[in-house]
Amino acid sequence: MARPAARFVCQQCGAVHPKWAGRCEDCGAWNSLVEETGGDGPPKGLGTGKGRRIELVGLEGSEQDAPRRVTGIGEFDRVAGGGLVPGSALLVGGDPGIGKSTLLLQVAARLAGSGTVLYISGEEAIEQVRMRARRLDVAGSPVSLAAATSVRDIVASLDQGPAPALVVIDSIQTMYLDSLDSAPGTVAQVRSSAQELIRLAKRRGFALVLVGHVTKEGTIAGPRVLEHMVDTVLYFEGERGHQFRILRAVKNRFGPTDEIGVFEMTDRGLDEVLNPSALFLADRQGDISGAAVFAGMEGTRPMLVEIQALVAPSAPGTPRRAVVGWDGGRLSMILAVLEARGGVAIGGNDIYLNVAGGLRIQEPAADLAVAAALISASTGQALPAATVVFGEIGLSGEVRAVSQTEQRLKEAGKLGFEHALMPPQRGRRLARSAEVTLQEIGTVAELCALFD
Ligand code: TYD
Ligand code: MG
Repeated sequence: MARPAARFVCQQCGAVHPKWAGRCEDCGAWNSLVEETGGDGPPKGLGTGKGRRIELVGLEGSEQDAPRRVTGIGEFDRVAGGGLVPGSALLVGGDPGIGKSTLLLQVAARLAGSGTVLYISGEEAIEQVRMRARRLDVAGSPVSLAAATSVRDIVASLDQGPAPALVVIDSIQTMYLDSLDSAPGTVAQVRSSAQELIRLAKRRGFALVLVGHVTKEGTIAGPRVLEHMVDTVLYFEGERGHQFRILRAVKNRFGPTDEIGVFEMTDRGLDEVLNPSALFLADRQGDISGAAVFAGMEGTRPMLVEIQALVAPSAPGTPRRAVVGWDGGRLSMILAVLEARGGVAIGGNDIYLNVAGGLRIQEPAADLAVAAALISASTGQALPAATVVFGEIGLSGEVRAVSQTEQRLKEAGKLGFEHALMPPQRGRRLARSAEVTLQEIGTVAELCALFD
């Protein structure tokens, strides 16, 4: 028999390569290829076995919508699309130590009153989970705990008796199937274990939550290899040293994907942050140069954050750029546009840009606020007091309209801001909010003129 060909599997994205290489050609991750034996092997075709006739039905039917399981943790429920869907699989990914286990123990505890909830830990001993539960003040809640890593045992246990409402697996990288040769944490194990658990969840109708560690080194499989297998993917993010944690939906078969949930890590677990703008602006120093308040939107939710810039003379050589919470490429673009269209030549300086509070902004609507912070930093002049800024900047220096203008203004008014620098409305009618006076900025040159 021919020797099975070697396969090298990227532990980040799951791509299979015939040869080892230092870098995965598919996803660009370094040092993430691991040789795997066994696994799926080449497809075998159908062979001679007989298939069963499948049943065909119409689009309309009396599918009783199983009610979603609402945890009562509003920030979690909203991101999950309005609660957990029975028979679905949800993946919560995030860096180690970010708070995934904490969040899910809180979720499990909240749901435990309304149905059987299982928390299966492959990382921590029972006593450690209990200690955490005491710390979170949920020790009295009827969650069923287990420390297990064998998928065969877990499936066998869950296949009997009444079906649970929710099963949390913490984490999928510790689970293994004894029918595979590879070690726990490899792509083959993570995929096959998840597949078995997801199949069980669909068959028995419980909501399955898988925890997945994001790994920088490619030694264990990252959650990306599971993204296409589950119904919903949430990432739990946060900057080290900040107490804010952000839960972000990146895929959701049952809800929107632009929602975020904001939490604060306290010494008694994660607290919901109901008014994130107030929190992100809490440490604001008033109206100083180099800072602009951006009126942003995260999904359906307005969120004000401060954008801070520092422009410093550069030592000979390449100037430094450091960006936290925003896209570095976008910063280069704004700098180029400011120079070409606004005559602000600061590109030769060291430039630091920071979104205060550890939020990561993805909206292009932040362009105008970034530009305002940069100009303010280089001129040393503060923006007009109590002002919010938003608008997208195009390559010709024009300021372009963005969505949900009214919600942005309303939130700004609610938090005591009085002015807004924003894109021209060109005849669009806005429901005027009385508190905020509007100043339309048509081009970056007009923005620069504010600082003369
Ligand atoms: P954890 O949920 O174990 O992270 P993950 O499962 O994503 O690896 O969170 C661990 C961190 O959270 C740890 O640094 C301690 C901190 N923490 C608190 O600050 N307060 C708490 O109440 C708990 C339970 C943890
Ligand atoms: Mg954990």
